[in-house]
Amino acid sequence: MQKTTVASWTVSATRHIDYEILESPNLLDPENPDLAALPYGSQGGGRRLVVIDEAVQGIFGDRIRGYFAARNKDMDYLTLPGGDEHKTLDQVVHVASRLNEIGTRRAGTPPIAIGGGVVQDVVGMAAGLYRRGIPYVRVPTTLLGQIDGSVSAKNGVNFEGHRNRLGTFAPPPRTLIDRTLIATLPRRQISSGMGEIIKMALIKDARLFDLLEAYGPDLLTERLQDTGIRTSAEKPGQECMHRAIAGMAEELQKNLWETDLRRIVDYGHTFSPAVEMRALPEILHGEAVAMGCVFGAVLSARRGILRYGQLERIIKTVRSIGLEPSHPLFGDPEILNDALSETVRHRDNHQHITLLRDVGITTFVDDLTTQEVAGAAATMVSILNGKSPLPDVELELPSNE
Ligand SMILES: NC(=O)c1ccc[n+]([C@@H]2O[C@H](COP(=O)([O-])OP(=O)(O)OC[C@H]3O[C@@H](n4cnc5c(N)ncnc54)[C@H](O)[C@@H]3O)[C@@H](O)[C@H]2O)c1
Ligand SMILES: [Zn+2]
Repeated sequence: MQKTTVASWTVSATRHIDYEILESPNLLDPENPDLAALPYGSQGGGRRLVVIDEAVQGIFGDRIRGYFAARNKDMDYLTLPGGDEHKTLDQVVHVASRLNEIGTRRAGTPPIAIGGGVVQDVVGMAAGLYRRGIPYVRVPTTLLGQIDGSVSAKNGVNFEGHRNRLGTFAPPPRTLIDRTLIATLPRRQISSGMGEIIKMALIKDARLFDLLEAYGPDLLTERLQDTGIRTSAEKPGQECMHRAIAGMAEELQKNLWETDLRRIVDYGHTFSPAVEMRALPEILHGEAVAMGCVFGAVLSARRGILRYGQLERIIKTVRSIGLEPSHPLFGDPEILNDALSETVRHRDNHQHITLLRDVGITTFVDDLTTQEVAGAAATMVSILNGKSPLPDVELELPSNE
C-alpha cells in the first residue's frame, strides 16, 4: 500500500471535571453569601452579569437587586424571556454582546443565570462560547431546571426546527438550588417538571414512583414545598427532589460526554421531541416527556415485557400529577417513525431504545419495527380517548373486514 503520510503527531490530554449542585435555602437573603460567591472560592472584583428570566424578574427582581446591593457587588442585569420559542441563537448572541460590553473576563467575573431551563441553556451556551468558554453560575427557578437541567453538562438552542441542534458541553462549576424559588410557578409548570421526575422514577427508582403515586396531587398543589400536615419525617416534596437530582447525577457521571449512546435517561425523549417541536408552543417539554414515557411503557407492554397492570399504574400516576398521557400527534405513526429514524441518526445508526421491564427496571432494544411503532400509536389513540390500554379493548377489527 502506498504511504501517504511522511510524519504524524498526536496530542493526547485528559481534562478532569467536577461541578457541584448545592441546595442553599434562602438564597436571596443578603445574609446568605452563596449567590454572590465565586464558584472556585477565589476573590473577584469586576462587574458581573446577572441574566434573569422575565417572569422571575417580575417576581424576585427587586430582591435579587437588593441582595447584590446589600453585599456591595458591582452587577449588571439582563432580562430574557423564557419559553422554548426563545431558545435561539439570537438570544445567545444577545448575552454574548452584553458580556463583551461589560468586559467579562476569562475567569474572575462569571455570569449568573437565574431562570428556567431556557435561560439556563441560553446563558450556558453563551458562556460556553464566550472566549471559548468561561465559568458561570446556574440558579434554576423551575422544577424542571432544578431537578434536571441542574445536573446536566449540556446546553443548547433549537435550530431549524430541531430541538437542541446547536449546543456545547460546558457545565458550570456551581449550581445553586433553593426550593422556595419554584413556589411561584404556575401549576402547569410544576406538572411539566414532574414529567422528568416520573421518567427518573420509571428508569431507576421504584421508591420515587411510589412517592409520586402516593402524593402526586399534593406535590402538585404544594409545589413540592411540603406545606401539608404530615409527620415531621415525611417530606415527600424534598425527597422527590433529592431522589431525582441524585438519580440524574449518578446516571450522567458515568457517561458525561455521552461516548456511550445507550442512555437510560433518554427514556421518554426518543419519540417526544418530534411531537414537542410540532406542537410548540402548545406542549411543554416535561408534558411531552411524560407522554414519551407512557409511549415507552406501551411499547414495552405490547412486547410482553411489561405487565399491562404496570402500564395502567403509570397512566394513572401521570394523570394524577396533572399531565396528559397521550396526544393526537402520539397517535400518528408517520411522525413517530420519523422520530425513530431521527433518533437512529443521532445515536450513530443504532436504535438503543430504552424500554421497561418493570417500574424502575429497564432494557435496551435495537429491533423495534415500524409496525410495532404503529401498533403502539393505535394504543395511544385509545388512551387519548380515555379507554383502557389493554389489548382486548384496543384490538378492534377494522369495519371493512
Ligand atoms: N441542558 C439540559 O440538559 C436541559 C435539561 C432539561 C431541560 N432543558 C431545557 O429546558 C427547557 C425547559 O425548561 P423550563 O421548563 O424551565 O422552561 P422555561 O425556562 O421556558 O420556563 C418556563 C416558564 O416559567 C417561567 N418561570 C421561570 N421561573 C419561574 C418562577 N420561579 N416563577 C414563575 N414563573 C417562572 C418562565 O418565564 C417560563 O415562562 C427546554 O428547552 C429543555 O430543553 C435543558
Ligand atoms: Zn428532558
